[in-house]
Amino acid sequence: MKPVLRNLEMTVLGLGFLGLAWGKNKLNGYTTPNGVAKSDPEGQIAYLLDIFAALRRFMPPGFDLRGRDVLELSPGASRGNGVLFLALGARSYHAIDVFDLAGGEDPGFYGRLLDRFPEGRAADRARARAFAGTSGLREFGYAVGRDFDIPRLADGRMFDLIVSCAAFEHYDDPASAIAAMTQVARPGCEAVHIIDLQTHSRWIRERDPNNIYRYPEPLYRLFAFPGQPNRQRPTDYVRSCKAAGWSDVRFVPSRRIDPALRETSLRGLAAPFAGQADMAILDGALTAHYPGKAGGAGLSP
Ligand SMILES: C[S@@+](CC[C@H](N)C(=O)[O-])C[C@H]1O[C@@H](n2cnc3c(N)ncnc32)[C@H](O)[C@@H]1O
Repeated sequence: MKPVLRNLEMTVLGLGFLGLAWGKNKLNGYTTPNGVAKSDPEGQIAYLLDIFAALRRFMPPGFDLRGRDVLELSPGASRGNGVLFLALGARSYHAIDVFDLAGGEDPGFYGRLLDRFPEGRAADRARARAFAGTSGLREFGYAVGRDFDIPRLADGRMFDLIVSCAAFEHYDDPASAIAAMTQVARPGCEAVHIIDLQTHSRWIRERDPNNIYRYPEPLYRLFAFPGQPNRQRPTDYVRSCKAAGWSDVRFVPSRRIDPALRETSLRGLAAPFAGQADMAILDGALTAHYPGKAGGAGLSP
């Protein structure tokens, strides 16, 4: 099929997927934060171990978690990452979300997760197990607020490490979220945010990963719902972090569009995405250090 016709086909199909996502949200609300069912603990454990390994990969080399206070933004269905941070010696873990997806999580799940994670000193692992089994503990916190007021939900805590996974692309106003997270960052704080930039609806993302970028803003926003991907690009996130006073700000790409789909995926995009240099990036990590110092970087190769 000619590229122009293929893109027309994908644009029409993509509108259907935007409508489906909107309808699903109207019917069920925000229920499935990732592709793994809550009734599948083995799948949840595999997912968490994978995400935790990715977060660690993007931390500064030699970053020692011992004695650190960690904040996770938007943990979704589980605070499992928190148990793993504690097992590696973190002093505390706090999670903040806009939807109460991890509320009522079975503490027994944390034990099973730890059984599959052989790292950390015995004393830290024992402490992680004890904290995870005790409800209402300040060192293993969880706060939910529809206003996503990060300083209020942090309740006086300050942090040395702030992480998230597959969250920033869902925020209504990422620049405000970055400014808010800055208010709870201690001097020396590191940030690692894994961000998924591509189309989220499954069938079409395999065939046309940049599909959400084909629509002008007013048309895209006709299908708006809470958590609809905000279509911010790496340069937007880097700019917002620098404006909030972070240094060494980088967006490190993890995956780029498959060469077989590259040409068609970069064609037929709406303004302001058409012709942007970073449109082949599918996902990656936004990393930064607080506070700012001269010489912050930009998009990593
Ligand atoms: C795709 S889930 C990812 C959850 C988890 N980090 C994971 O990897 O499974 C997106 C997360 O962003 C949160 N979220 C969605 N829309 C949001 C919004 N408008 N503002 C703030 N958080 C939002 C959800 O509650 C959820 O925790």
